[in-house]
Amino acid sequence: MTENLLASVEDGVLTLVLNRPDKKNALTDAMYAALADNLIAAEKDPAIRAVVFRGEGDMFCAGNDIADFVAASNDGIAERSVGRFLRALAESSKPLIAAVHGKSVGIGLTMLLHCDQVILAEGAQLIAPFVNLALVPEAASSMLLPARVGHVRAYRIFALGEPVSAADALAWGLANDVVPHADLNATADALARRLAKQPMGALIATKQLMRDPAAIRERLDIENRVFAERLKSPEAQEAFAAFAQRRAPDFTQFG
Ligand code: COA
Repeated sequence: MTENLLASVEDGVLTLVLNRPDKKNALTDAMYAALADNLIAAEKDPAIRAVVFRGEGDMFCAGNDIADFVAASNDGIAERSVGRFLRALAESSKPLIAAVHGKSVGIGLTMLLHCDQVILAEGAQLIAPFVNLALVPEAASSMLLPARVGHVRAYRIFALGEPVSAADALAWGLANDVVPHADLNATADALARRLAKQPMGALIATKQLMRDPAAIRERLDIENRVFAERLKSPEAQEAFAAFAQRRAPDFTQFG
């Protein structure tokens, strides 16, 4: 377990709080492991009837820890806990609710595609800068995002890393509601508690009918292979070095 992920249960609702505010809740391997463990345990525990994700500090999540990307480029992503988290997320049959404020970057966006309800605080921005980091989309988002918002919007989100405003996220079906920041947690909690009172058998069966976990797993595997190759690319090494040195990357040196 890690102090960077807080887990608590109340009234049948498991709340998972990303708690690494000094690093903008960038996700480390330990955080992925804790997220995966909690989701897997929740799946088996009849006392847990809904799950809420939220983040401490001034943003929901700055995405994967970029230092961990560098480490992963040396050993291979398949061994890392992110894969276990993504499978647990994709296979969770319980209602998943995200409460998102500030920026939500990379997996901070793509995990929302696996949530059943997404509440945004006013001013929230969803950003998928995979290509900016010379990487490719993950979390089955290469399939799920175009399906949700259409190819041309998804392409711009991925290819240019252009932020999606809260208003666009709402209009494009990425979120249910945009609320004042002060109301974010209460709105998500109230929704989770309503869902937790619904007949769980019917709720689970409905979610199963609405999603195709086999197609998602297949896409996760394909993305994983391409992602692992990209991590080792000179382009990606340049992107990670540029982030560490707080400078703009220069990709024109690569063919
Ligand atoms: N991985 C590792 N560290 C990260 C991080 C990440 N993804 N995102 C932020 N941090 C760290 C910064 O390095 C900084 O650390 P320091 O205080 O030790 O220097 C700290 O968090 C604060 O970040 P900072 O950039 O100063 O905050 P900001 O509010 O100006 O900007 C972001 C926030 C999220 C816009 C910016 O940090 C960013 O672009 N991060 C990278 C996002 C990304 O590309 N994620 C991967 C997606 S695939």
